[in-house]
Amino acid sequence: MDVRHPFSRRRFFGGVAAAVGALGIDPKFSFGQVRTEQFTGGEAQYDAYVKIASNENNWGPPPAVMEAMQHGFKYANRYGNPDGNIMQAIAEHHGVKRENVLLTAGSGEVLDVVGTTYLQNGKVVLGADPSYGSVYQHATTIKSDAIKLPLLKDFRQDIPGMIAAANRNARDIGFFYLCNPNNPTGVVVSAKEVRQVVEGLPKDMPILIDEAYHHFVDDPAYGTAVPYVLEGRPVIVARTFSKIAALAAMRIGYAIAPADIIQRLRAYSINSVNVAAKFGAAASLKDTAGQAEVRKKVIALRTSTSKELEAWGYPVIPSQTNFFMVSLHDKTVQPTIQAFREKNILVGRPFPPMLNHLRVSIGREEDMQKFLVAFKEIFPKRAPVTSNMAGGQQ
Ligand SMILES: Cc1ncc(COP(=O)(O)O)c(C=O)c1O
Repeated sequence: MDVRHPFSRRRFFGGVAAAVGALGIDPKFSFGQVRTEQFTGGEAQYDAYVKIASNENNWGPPPAVMEAMQHGFKYANRYGNPDGNIMQAIAEHHGVKRENVLLTAGSGEVLDVVGTTYLQNGKVVLGADPSYGSVYQHATTIKSDAIKLPLLKDFRQDIPGMIAAANRNARDIGFFYLCNPNNPTGVVVSAKEVRQVVEGLPKDMPILIDEAYHHFVDDPAYGTAVPYVLEGRPVIVARTFSKIAALAAMRIGYAIAPADIIQRLRAYSINSVNVAAKFGAAASLKDTAGQAEVRKKVIALRTSTSKELEAWGYPVIPSQTNFFMVSLHDKTVQPTIQAFREKNILVGRPFPPMLNHLRVSIGREEDMQKFLVAFKEIFPKRAPVTSNMAGGQQ
């Protein structure tokens, strides 16, 4: 739908183009996320938004992390050292060796590097749909492709189906992608299912397990895949400091994998993590109290916001991340994004085919309050629901 002409929804969501223009966003960009190249307004204007579109950490880096980054700046003139001992810190944190760690500019770089390494000679990636689209976009960019398996009706990943498809197409598959918990749904893959994947695939098929939201999981059925690296399985675990440590703009993440895999990946890595990020990330690993505080706040706000939406009649897919998806019943995401933007709130972009579900990141308490007020202005009250009714429409 053309957002400049919202047709029958004009009255419901009215005045979209004018409002968007006034907010300094080029109206031809209709996504929830406002990318640098799309935003034409100033810093103050951007600060005025409630930003719950991109699964960022709205509290910002904790004091221990800020302090360490400031310390790191004095080495801004150096190419690699000192580095805050970040490699050792990550290795120790996971009980692996430095040779099992690849330090990257965000975990997004891990995903790209794995794609570039394993999607050569016509190989494709296999994963769920929808899942974190960057993996599939990178495959397209490098002229590869993806085998994507739809989620199940309850929004879980179809693990038996994915394993079967991977075996059926084994010769064509460069690597298997598992986002756990999944973005955009927030749903976890249980430790038991991860084991089924690791044991059910051909022995040498690389498995990329993206644990960007690991820190926000409180479901006891979940487990990290790092132990499989120690077992010597061809498992690559991607982690990031963007979420838990609020370092999204600093660009730092890493991969944990068997040494021979890390060596292969290293050939495509840009080896370009900045010094402040290294010091900040090392401090974050030690700052267990700071991490626990963020986790506690995210889980509490995830629970309370979901409950309030369900009491208002809009089911929420039970999430284990710093975002959730709420069903809009028969309403669609695109005009909803614009309606929120008119109220200075940035919410998640559309994730086809889930076009009746809105992805909302967990911000601070005041962000979630503003979101709830706006939601109730945009969407009429309905009969209360519970999360097991989150089916909506897919
Ligand atoms: C599932 C998932 N993986 C990876 C990333 C990349 O994050 P970053 O490159 O900031 O570490 C994101 C970012 O939102 C994500 O949602």
